[in-house]
This record gives sequence, C-alpha cells and structure tokens, in this order.
Amino acid sequence: MSTALDVHVRELAEQGHTLLGGIETDEQAAQALRAFGELVPQYDGSLRYQVKAAPGFEERRYSKSVNTILVHTEAPGWNPPPTYLALHCRVQATCGSGHTELADMRRFVAMLGEADRAALYERDIEWVGHNTGGVGTEGVRRPVVERVNGRETLRFSYNLLATGQYDPPVDASVDPAELPLGSFGIHLAEQAEAFFRENKISVLIPENSVLVWDNQRMVHARSAYRDARRHLTRYWVAAPN
Ligand SMILES: [Fe+2]
Repeated sequence: MSTALDVHVRELAEQGHTLLGGIETDEQAAQALRAFGELVPQYDGSLRYQVKAAPGFEERRYSKSVNTILVHTEAPGWNPPPTYLALHCRVQATCGSGHTELADMRRFVAMLGEADRAALYERDIEWVGHNTGGVGTEGVRRPVVERVNGRETLRFSYNLLATGQYDPPVDASVDPAELPLGSFGIHLAEQAEAFFRENKISVLIPENSVLVWDNQRMVHARSAYRDARRHLTRYWVAAPN
C-alpha cells in the first residue's frame, strides 16, 4: 500500500519537487523533512533561516530583500550542496507576487548545443564561499555538472557567472575578464535565464505548506514582491548516500 510519504518521495524523484500540506509549526516542518534526510546547518550555522525582507538589503539581489533573485542552486560552494531545499510558508505575500520559481536543469543541459554542453562538464568554476561568512566559506572548484558514481550534481548561479558575486548590487556592472568563465559565463547565464523563463513552474507556497525540491537538479529563483509581511522559513536537507 502506498502512503502519503511515498507520493511525495515519488514526486521528488520524478518531477524534482513536491508540496507538503498541513504543517503549522517549526517542529512539524522539521519532523516532516526528516523523512527525506538530515537537516543541515545553513550559512549562519542554524538549521532554520528566516526568508523575510529586512532593512539594509534594499539594493541587493538577496533573500532578505524584496528584489528579484535570478536562477541559482543553493550553496553551490558547499560539497556536496544540500540535496533538498525546503521553504515553509508562514505568511504568504498578498501582493500577487513573491512566487518561488523552479526549473529542471537536466532539461537545460540536454537542450544546449554540443560545445556549450561539453563545457558544463569540463570547465571548472571557483564556487566561492558565501558572502555572509560563517561556516562553509572555503568554497569548491567544480564544473556546473559534477559526475560522482554515475550521479550528476548540478551547481548554478546566474549572479556568480554574470557578476562574480552571489548577491550583487541591483545595478552591478563588471569587466567580463574578471568573471569565473569570462564572457562565456555570461552567455551561459543568459541561456539559462531564457530557458528558465520558458520552462519554470511558479509556486505561491500556501501558508502552512512546505515546498521541497531537489537542489542538485533544479534551479530556483524568486520574483520581486511588495508585501513585506511575506515570511518563509528555509531548511537544507542532506539525503542519506
Ligand atoms: Fe536560493
């Protein structure tokens, strides 16, 4: 007999994401997510990170701003990056925006021309540690698609490829010679963004629900929003090997 959990496990494997409902507290969220793996400490060392607009980040493309955040995977500088990412919605934005957007990077890799695709497997990128400091700041050197034991782990950051920073100023401009893959990285970032616009699914996570997705396969982004009450709690999950 298949259980409710089986359905979510299957959805995660097949489509790369699933939505868990009826979760009202931090404890219930943690309990539900432990079915998928172990909760792991995030950039600041805590198991929970509050995604909520805060003063001081108005001019950055950052989780604590209301600005658009372009396509990326979480913590690409970690080895390995968290298997799953989860957002528990506490207060849903009521401005008609603030959606979490997801797309399957495997499909992006498959649709690229041969030379571009080969570069994703072959050209190493310095995935620097996160700007905010704390643990995991050393970073890793890996291609966009890392193959380990026949399994592929994807890392991506539009911002890092196009500006050299994860959370750049809104009006960032840089010399391509200083970017991780030079102007080829900008070309790649723009193709990924175009693919994302065409193929993304857009979820306005309902309150008391948790959106879980495969962070080694899916890229995510967030649309700009105005309702500063919006509040999500983020979790990182490491699946057992
Ligand atoms: Fe993110």
